Amino acid sequence: MDGVRRQPRATGNASPGRPAANGHGRLVGTAFILSILASLALTAVYAVGGQPQLEGALLAVSLGTLGAGIILWARDLLIPEEISEEREPEPSPPGMRAAAETALQMGGRQLTRRTALSRLLIGALGALGLAALFPIRSLGPGPGRSLFHTQWSAGARVVDNEGHPVSVRDLEVGSVVTVFPEGFVGSPVSQVLLIRVEPGSLQLRPGRLAWAPDGVVAFSKICTHAGCPVGLYDASTHQLLCPCHQSTFDVLSGATPVFGPASRPLPQLPLEARADGVLRARADFQEPVGPGFWDRP
Ligand code: FES
Repeated sequence: MDGVRRQPRATGNASPGRPAANGHGRLVGTAFILSILASLALTAVYAVGGQPQLEGALLAVSLGTLGAGIILWARDLLIPEEISEEREPEPSPPGMRAAAETALQMGGRQLTRRTALSRLLIGALGALGLAALFPIRSLGPGPGRSLFHTQWSAGARVVDNEGHPVSVRDLEVGSVVTVFPEGFVGSPVSQVLLIRVEPGSLQLRPGRLAWAPDGVVAFSKICTHAGCPVGLYDASTHQLLCPCHQSTFDVLSGATPVFGPASRPLPQLPLEARADGVLRARADFQEPVGPGFWDRP
């Protein structure tokens, strides 16, 4: 064609004059088909119970062939030469029009090939998505509001780790005992530290003094930093210590953290003592127990 100059791109991957999307079509299609087969095999392995090494190998093949296919296809889509053309007087000469028609027809064939490759690509992505459903499903149902509740409820009797009811009379000033709601001994989420202090020494939040009959206060045993059990009580300083990262909580001020990484007080359980002296919960905790992930941005 007169006035048209062609020159290879510096990074071109094919010889000048080769039509776009023509170089690796078969290879791209093969890669996508391999990816589909690997993903389907991965789905089957998941469905029969899984095998970590095989799952890893199949996932590598699936992702590797998918990536290789996309890269090869992208390279083919790049026109391998730079074309510049002198401005021609209108109308175009017959030879140029014939060349344009030929180019248009070739474009149609390329479009057909691209459609087939597109379908294979969609198939490969779909098969990979199908295989991904199994690990996603294994994450289990969402916890919903369950993390915000324990087995404590209004009227639940406080029992020790052998299931015996605990009364105020059982506790000396300075003593500490791990307790549970009756019927749920050993429940990790409901474990509570029962501590007796001099009633006049408590400086709790407004309305919470009534939750501590005769100076008996109850706090969740689950550390608000990372969930370790807070197991050490120093009666001389009235401090609870978490052994994991040394968070320290001041019992007299409502188990507020005074040292360490915990930033939230241990939730206080509302208690009451009936006429028989047995301790009962007034209600469940008013705040979620355990690490405060819900406070994070
Ligand atoms: S879990 Fe208690 S301080 Fe980290």
